[in-house]
Amino acid sequence: MAKNDVSLSVIKRLPRYYRFLGEMKKAGLQRISSSELSKRMGFTASQIRQDLNCFGGFGQQGYGYNVSQLYAEIGKILGVNKKAKTVLIGAGNLGRAVAAHMSFEERGFNLIGIFDRNEALAGQLVRGLPIRHIGGLYDFCRENAPTVAVLCIPSDNAAEVTEELVRLGVKGFWNFTHYDIAANYPGVAVENVHLSDSLMTLSYHLNNL
Ligand code: NAI
Repeated sequence: MAKNDVSLSVIKRLPRYYRFLGEMKKAGLQRISSSELSKRMGFTASQIRQDLNCFGGFGQQGYGYNVSQLYAEIGKILGVNKKAKTVLIGAGNLGRAVAAHMSFEERGFNLIGIFDRNEALAGQLVRGLPIRHIGGLYDFCRENAPTVAVLCIPSDNAAEVTEELVRLGVKGFWNFTHYDIAANYPGVAVENVHLSDSLMTLSYHLNNL
């Protein structure tokens, strides 16, 4: 199956496979059957076989899956070995937390610049990087050519900043704002993150126990 034909729901499950397999690898496990994998991950064995078949199988009859190999293959599909140059815009409470705690490097990204419009923040270090004033974004992008941006600014300011970033060659957005980037820029990759959606999903489950 061509990668573009893989359903979004399979793609959304891949990071979970990657995380579990990483833990198994760390624990020294060399191989695992689909039924054992299903027990650990909470997916059915047939779901696992179907998911992994989308990418060419990786399993062997009677052997199961080679943990390191499967981990590496899924990592390759997810692109975790790439080091996409990334800038983060908005070094407030959320932006600092994301910059400080997210292991970008292990997930295919290289955070190279943090920007904010508040001049008082300029020069403060977050994750060893100085916060830069947003006025320097143009020159920085021209020089360093980042392809990804993390947006941690208020939604009201997102359209303008996105427009500039797209013009400067950014092709992927990790979007914490409510601005609908995908609708306005169909050619870019967008992953929206809304913690409140997750919280409301919990509320639904809680009220339907
Ligand atoms: P904050 O007020 O602490 O930080 C926002 C930062 O963005 C400030 O430092 C401000 O100077 C900067 N900023 C504003 N406009 C800018 C621009 N045009 N260019 C560069 N920097 C700019 O706010 P906080 O708590 O960090 O939240 C940021 C945004 O993220 C809020 O709009 C909030 O609604 C949203 N948010 C989203 C979440 C989600 O799950 N998607 C979770 C939490 C917050």
